[in-house]
This record gives sequence, structure tokens and C-alpha cells, in this order.
Amino acid sequence: MRLAVNIDHIATLRNARNDFEPDPVAAALLAEKSGAAGIVCHLREDRRHIKDTDLQRLRKAVTTKLDLEMAMTPEMQRIALQTKPELITLVPEKREELTTEGGFNITGHYNTLVEFLKPFKAAGIESSIFIEPDKDSIDLAAKADADIVELHTGTYALKTNDDDRTLELQRIREAAIHAKSLGLKVVAGHGLNYLNIAPFKEITEIEEVSIGHAIIARAVLTGLDEAVRELLRIIQ
Ligand code: PXP
Repeated sequence: MRLAVNIDHIATLRNARNDFEPDPVAAALLAEKSGAAGIVCHLREDRRHIKDTDLQRLRKAVTTKLDLEMAMTPEMQRIALQTKPELITLVPEKREELTTEGGFNITGHYNTLVEFLKPFKAAGIESSIFIEPDKDSIDLAAKADADIVELHTGTYALKTNDDDRTLELQRIREAAIHAKSLGLKVVAGHGLNYLNIAPFKEITEIEEVSIGHAIIARAVLTGLDEAVRELLRIIQ
């Protein structure tokens, strides 16, 4: 299974000071050096984490695969077609949400989606749709000629009871099998972390996981020791 690393929260940290560091592009290069198969970023309408200039710099720097998460809006379509990431991932976007909440509602936007995806296909940019792990959404994603479905694992991640978690995992497994049988590539993401990722190794239909928060949160703490020592070496 491959790992795509979402570097949005490096930008969130940088933006807290309106400063230049930490630089999301430097983070992307480090993640690639450590074995990430791709770099994911979400250019939100409110630009709360990565900005347009970050996206341009990421495009130049990333050599594995750049996955641009975005809402299905004309502005994002224009930016994505200019930027030419290897891949776009369509996500629902609400201004007031803390992070993406749930999968894209394909049923409600099917006709718009079909038209929206066409220029990407023509430009050789793969399209992925972030959806709930249910059969109807998968069927519509295949019918809309998407290349990939990213199954939303947020519900799984929030389950606190073992039985509920197992049931949700089974739902994801069945969705992955169904999507693959329709010729879609299958990835998964949202809320995955060091403690809940292991069962996904058994779902061989899932080629890749997309993880952000857990990795960036871990990096801050595992890096703090050296960061403090380095500063002490300077002042002592
Ligand atoms: N996949 C999608 C479509 C997302 O929107 C996000 C969050 O930006 C992720 C994966 C990563 O989620 P997390 O930060 O919880 O690992």
C-alpha cells in the first residue's frame, strides 16, 4: 500500500505567524525523500492553509505525484487546469467546517460533475472523487468516468466501539471490492493514524492511503527533541 502525505497543516502552522516557516514545499520534499508516493494539498476557497503561490511552488518541486484536493467550482477548475497536478480530488467544501466532513454528494451533482471532469480527462489529469463507501456513489463515480475513488474513512476513525469499527471497516472493504470490479482505482483517507491504519493492509483493493493530520502532529513531537537541543547548542 502506498502513502500520500497531506502537507496542509504545515501551511496552517506557518500561517499562524504569517511567516515563511515551516515551508510546505520543504515538507513535501522531505516526505518524498522519506518514501511518500505522493503529496496532497487542499486549496480551499478561503485559502486557510496552502495559498496559490504554495501550489505553484509545489507543482515545480514535487516529483512523485501532486494531488490537488479541491471543491467543484469554476475557480478551482481553472487553477487546476493551469497548474496541471497529476491528480485532482474532488471534495465537498463548507466554509465553516474544520476539515472535510464526509464524502462528495455525487447523486446531487451528477450532471455538473460529468461536465466538470471532461477537461481534466482531455488534459491527461487523473480525477478522484472523495466519497462515502457506498455502492450508489461508486456506481455514479464510474459512470461519470472518474479514474479513482477515495473512500472516506472518517466515520471508521471516529468509532469508539470495536463492533461498530469492525462493521464500518467491512463497509469500506465491500466498497473497495466493488469499486475495483468497476475498473476504478481505490484509495482511502481521512482520520487515519498510527493506531487505526493496520486493518487497511488486509484490504488489498486499496492501493493508497492519504494521511495528513496524524503525520504532521507526530512530526511536531518527534522533532521537538532535536529542535530544543539545536537551540541550546547555539545559546550555551
Ligand atoms: N483525504 C481527503 C479527501 C481529505 O480532505 C483529507 C483532509 O484534508 C485527508 C484525506 C487527510 O485527512 P487527515 O488529515 O485526517 O489525515
